[in-house]
Amino acid sequence: MLGATNGSSTSVWMDTAAVPVFPPLAGDLEAGVCVIGAGIAGLTTAYLLAQEGLDVVVIDALGVGAGETGRTTAHFFPPDEWYGGIEHRFGAAQARLVAGSYAHALELVEGIVRREHIDCGFGRLDGYLVGAYAPRADGIVADSTAARLQHERDAAVRAGVAADLLPAVPGLDVQLGPCVRYPGQAQFQPLQYLAGLARAFSARGGRIHGATHAHRVRGDHRRQVVATDRGAIRTKAVVVATHTPFNDRVVMHTKQAGYRTYVVGLRLPRPGVPRLLLWDLGDPYHYVRLAQDGAGNDVLVVGGADHKTGQDAHPAHRYDELERWARARFPMALEVAWRWSGEVMEPADGLPFLGRNPMDDENVYLITGDSGNGMTHCTIGAMLVTDLIMERPNPWSALYDPARKPVHGFREFAGEQANVMARYGEWLTGGAVDSVHAIAPGEGAVLRDGLRRIAVYRDPQGALHALSAKCTHLGCAVHWNGAERSWDCPCHASRFDTEGNVLHGPAPTALARVELRADAAPLPRERRSGARRGVR
Ligand SMILES: Cc1cc2nc3c(=O)[nH]c(=O)nc-3n(C[C@H](O)[C@H](O)[C@H](O)COP(=O)(O)OP(=O)(O)OC[C@H]3O[C@@H](n4cnc5c(N)ncnc54)[C@H](O)[C@@H]3O)c2cc1C
Ligand code: FES
Repeated sequence: MLGATNGSSTSVWMDTAAVPVFPPLAGDLEAGVCVIGAGIAGLTTAYLLAQEGLDVVVIDALGVGAGETGRTTAHFFPPDEWYGGIEHRFGAAQARLVAGSYAHALELVEGIVRREHIDCGFGRLDGYLVGAYAPRADGIVADSTAARLQHERDAAVRAGVAADLLPAVPGLDVQLGPCVRYPGQAQFQPLQYLAGLARAFSARGGRIHGATHAHRVRGDHRRQVVATDRGAIRTKAVVVATHTPFNDRVVMHTKQAGYRTYVVGLRLPRPGVPRLLLWDLGDPYHYVRLAQDGAGNDVLVVGGADHKTGQDAHPAHRYDELERWARARFPMALEVAWRWSGEVMEPADGLPFLGRNPMDDENVYLITGDSGNGMTHCTIGAMLVTDLIMERPNPWSALYDPARKPVHGFREFAGEQANVMARYGEWLTGGAVDSVHAIAPGEGAVLRDGLRRIAVYRDPQGALHALSAKCTHLGCAVHWNGAERSWDCPCHASRFDTEGNVLHGPAPTALARVELRADAAPLPRERRSGARRGVR
């Protein structure tokens, strides 16, 4: 079963999948390729490389599916900028290239599921894009919404996608107005898919090690050494598939930003809701699909309510907001049985970063910047990186090149940089509380201590756990995340557990521990412990 994950909430997938657990690395080893990260990006890449006959080892700080792939909602759907947005930024020819890569990714996943007999509920189904407004009895929508939907449908068709415009979503009682239909999208149970990939990879001789945290990648164009807390891996090529790269200190983190996104799973009566994928034009948008609980009953899975990571200490209200949204559209829904959250990395220009790590040796590769399309983007990334390692041309390598400049999303790029700079100013302002006495059991808050900021968590038994609030990536002050009981960095989306261990990069190491005096005031010296604390 799934071991530790990178948050304290539990997704419907975690409750309904059996995921194999792999032992940690036991000392140094040699491998043809080292893949870091056992989410959909890493395991798909490892599987494809093993099929090519390469000797591949996968390591993960936690385990298979312990990252965002265990928290996803696993829609295969159009780019979440929609085709209109992609065409506007990159032009019609590139939008066609994007659509082609999406179709290939879906065919690849479908082929793997069939070939490897992976029982993950994979199925094709239609997806619908609707306006972002409350349902109306008359179904009439504003002209601007109708025009946006028409524009999106036309752009999708120009990109080669068989989209059409319908007056209403078929099979739904509630009037959501006109919609764009995208036929032949897909969904699956993401952790069952990963479990199947891991087994298929192992059956081809691939090695997987869990509980193995990589903290450095160094070498040259012939040989790389991945330093981990369990030993060193000497290899010809490295694929960093860690959702956001930990081996790149600055460059990639100016091109993408981390956002938290929230999901509720509501039980449904039978017959309840037709099988469909649904999204709205909101910003952030809502996303809907069905899943099954352990007994095979339908669950309505509704996501959205995103915000920048580290910029909402008490996000529980976002679950309530999603529930209200769901009940207004699906009045038959029963109780909320799941609530979980996760992180998406939003690229400034809307396209992922797949390929060689910029300003590095040519044998270090990245898969990151997935936005809300990680199922598709990570699969494209796996195909693309496999071609680069096999020294074959790939039709999408320039389109998704991590070294591209953010010229197509410059406004977003500049806005995110301004947001990050504002966060550094927090060192000059007060903490969230003046005294640890203001922190309730099960809660955390940042305390000011002269020029220092102390991140203090009071556990349910009342004991205090104090850490330096200084993020080990580039020094922003972390903020409390009450939904996941973690310390989240508002600058580049690192996350730490209440003991300071890294849950999500790019932070390379744990937050430093701080001793508290008997009266709960911080002692002057921070106590730092070793590299083993880099991982939970
Ligand atoms: C709520 C939610 C809903 C979403 N919905 C959709 C959707 O409907 N469709 C869609 O396409 N996408 C969706 N996404 C996005 C998608 O889930 C992600 O983009 C995708 O799962 C990322 O996969 P990954 O393999 O890159 O990263 P992960 O699954 O996070 O895997 C990375 C792995 O790397 C490991 N790791 C990290 N650092 C280190 C290190 N230093 N050393 C060793 N191991 C390390 C982690 O433990 C982790 O297991 C959603 C995301 C969320 C959170
Ligand atoms: S993630 Fe960059 S400073 Fe924290």
